[in-house]
Amino acid sequence: MNKSVKENVSKRVRFFNRIRYAPWFSQLVIIRRCNLSCTYCNEFDQSSSPVELTTLKGRLQKLKSLGTYAINLTGGEPTLHPDLPELIRYCREDLKFFRTSMISNGFLLKEELIEKLNRAGLQDMQISIDGVQPNETTVKVLKSLEKRLELLKKHAKFNVVVSAVVGSCPPEESFTVIQHAKSMGFKPRVLLIHDQEGQVQLSEEQLKVFYKIKKLIPKGFPEFTDYRETMIEQGKAPFKCRAGSRYLYVDEAGLVSWCSQTRSVFSKPLMDYGLVDLRREFYSYKSCQDHCTLGCVRAASSVDGWRKQDIKKSIA
Ligand SMILES: C[S@@+](CC[C@H](N)C(=O)[O-])C[C@H]1O[C@@H](n2cnc3c(N)ncnc32)[C@H](O)[C@@H]1O
Repeated sequence: MNKSVKENVSKRVRFFNRIRYAPWFSQLVIIRRCNLSCTYCNEFDQSSSPVELTTLKGRLQKLKSLGTYAINLTGGEPTLHPDLPELIRYCREDLKFFRTSMISNGFLLKEELIEKLNRAGLQDMQISIDGVQPNETTVKVLKSLEKRLELLKKHAKFNVVVSAVVGSCPPEESFTVIQHAKSMGFKPRVLLIHDQEGQVQLSEEQLKVFYKIKKLIPKGFPEFTDYRETMIEQGKAPFKCRAGSRYLYVDEAGLVSWCSQTRSVFSKPLMDYGLVDLRREFYSYKSCQDHCTLGCVRAASSVDGWRKQDIKKSIA
């Protein structure tokens, strides 16, 4: 085979492998510290420093080279990172991810930061609002965030998704959040509270509100699949989890895990991660998958539901 034919063949192989195993969605923790301490959350600390800009750029390059399609910057609280706008710009202009998004509790959003994020080219921001009044579980509530929502409405050029966690506040409050988000023209999203094992347990009242909220969310909204209902009704909602392949969670130390809740079960340094890992994890059976409440993992796994998965082994 001459050189140019060989190059064409290897380009084609890379292209097919990307289609077969590359991440649709990768989440990168840019700082583990959070300014809040919601008691239902185990994804933060109160003291760590922001991950260095050059380190993060290296990780983003690696995620791009693995074929990541959409990147999401998370934490901790990403707005505590002093280089957040530069990171967004880098994702958009230099690496050209197809979608660049971030998650925030919104407390540190000011007009100046929103304008910087506009200029950097941010496409989507998920802002987490759990209820209406602060309680001992959460202060991410409308009472504290109303002004930030107004600022976003006035200045943001990116899409804003307001996400409520059913189970973190009196149930009717989750309903009010979703209603309010819609009235302001933001996209609503609902998460179910999970415990440390990723299990979901809702009361009768929470269930009723969940079904009420469901009516407020437009049909066909990408993440609003039936798994939540199945989970609530049957205690589990089986699917073939493709985490470690179609979805990557990279923590502040640069370790890839299946997700934020399985860091002690599976992890490998991102910089050593390659096609072999993507392929292996694509097929690997995860013992937590039937009870998984992570909408982004389910969404990223959904197109490959028809493809095989290893049979059940005792992993976790
Ligand atoms: C870990 S936070 C990081 C970003 C940011 N600090 C925030 O509050 O949005 C990401 C999302 O995970 C959600 N989350 C954390 N723990 C959860 C749990 N036990 N059940 C459901 N959602 C949870 C949060 O509400 C938030 O929407």
